[in-house]
Amino acid sequence: MYLTKEEEHIYDGERGWANQKCMKILVRLGELFNASKLIPIDSAHVSGISYKTLGDSPIEFLKALADGDGKTKVRATLNPQSLDTEYLDKRLPRKIVEKQLTILKQFERMNFTPSLTCTPYYMERPRPNSHLAWAESSAVVYANSVLGAWTNREGGPSALAAAIIGKTPNYGIHKAENRQPKVLVSVNAQMRNETDFGALGICLGKVLADNIPEIHGLHEASKEQLKQLSAALASTGMVNMFQLEQKKTRTNREEMPKISVEAKDIKKTAESLSTAITSKPDLVFIGCPHCSLNEIKQIAQLLKGKKVKAGLEFWVCTSRHAKELARDSVEQIERSGGHVLAGVCTVVSWTETLGIKTIMTNSAKTAYYAPTLNRAETILAPLEDCIKAATRG
Ligand code: F3S
Repeated sequence: MYLTKEEEHIYDGERGWANQKCMKILVRLGELFNASKLIPIDSAHVSGISYKTLGDSPIEFLKALADGDGKTKVRATLNPQSLDTEYLDKRLPRKIVEKQLTILKQFERMNFTPSLTCTPYYMERPRPNSHLAWAESSAVVYANSVLGAWTNREGGPSALAAAIIGKTPNYGIHKAENRQPKVLVSVNAQMRNETDFGALGICLGKVLADNIPEIHGLHEASKEQLKQLSAALASTGMVNMFQLEQKKTRTNREEMPKISVEAKDIKKTAESLSTAITSKPDLVFIGCPHCSLNEIKQIAQLLKGKKVKAGLEFWVCTSRHAKELARDSVEQIERSGGHVLAGVCTVVSWTETLGIKTIMTNSAKTAYYAPTLNRAETILAPLEDCIKAATRG
């Protein structure tokens, strides 16, 4: 892989240990995927911030990078952590809270923005056609498909290295020729709500492998519904983008393999994501991926005049940024007995330690992961049904 003179200096350790380590990670990755060079990025987004998913071993590496004067060169944001500072931290063992704080501190020493959200695009929307190095799979698919930015699906370490160097290897969908659809998907079903979009993503992810689909039949899908599709698609498959039906296309549709998705496929997939025998959840969770401002307002509206049932948890997860902007709606949700948690998500938090055994959610991604990552039973249902199940009055 070609390196500029300055990149060679970094590689040889002339700009310090942290920069050298990060450059070596990027060069290794680039060589693995036959990249010709490094290209500048507008931003990096790092996953693996939660102590629950990260564990103890990488903490020393993060400390060493921060001690070695690793500093971000571009806007660099962080995925959710395992607790929030207002509600969950008081209910969790001190050791967990301290470990989580130690992890965050290392990122802050390296000048990362403590955004703690999987929807960094609500804080600052990437420019169309800009190159990014993002590691949160739901955000990767959304950025490529809905926002028109260009990013591979990075791992936590490669996104971290890209943040410190300000560049990423030029391979995968950083190249225009790799962004063309390879499969034509016809959705022959009425898509009624966000869980239908999530179920479609789970179902398609399993059959697409890493082939980019051109999806027909999703007329007037909202941005939030496409966010659910993005998150679910990335959960079961390796595909990093989709295209919606376009009038003009450079691809030859006749020659493309075709997949049809029928209403029965969506229904069957959605049903398979509800594993609980009971219809009574311990936790109702909205906010995977993290809620937009509109979603928070909609939840507040639906909760007006209602109270969350005693003994039941109702969590809305979002970023601190959105929580502050949605102050009135947040107050409405809290008055109704719900909790708006900033910087955390159910899947990467300690729900088992909190005694949560059944999770109801409108997110297909959470329903897909919770049985393994939270050891919880799941109930997948659209927002309105989640609110009905959570409230009285
Ligand atoms: Fe975000 Fe957690 Fe879902 S990181 S995409 S809310 S699993």
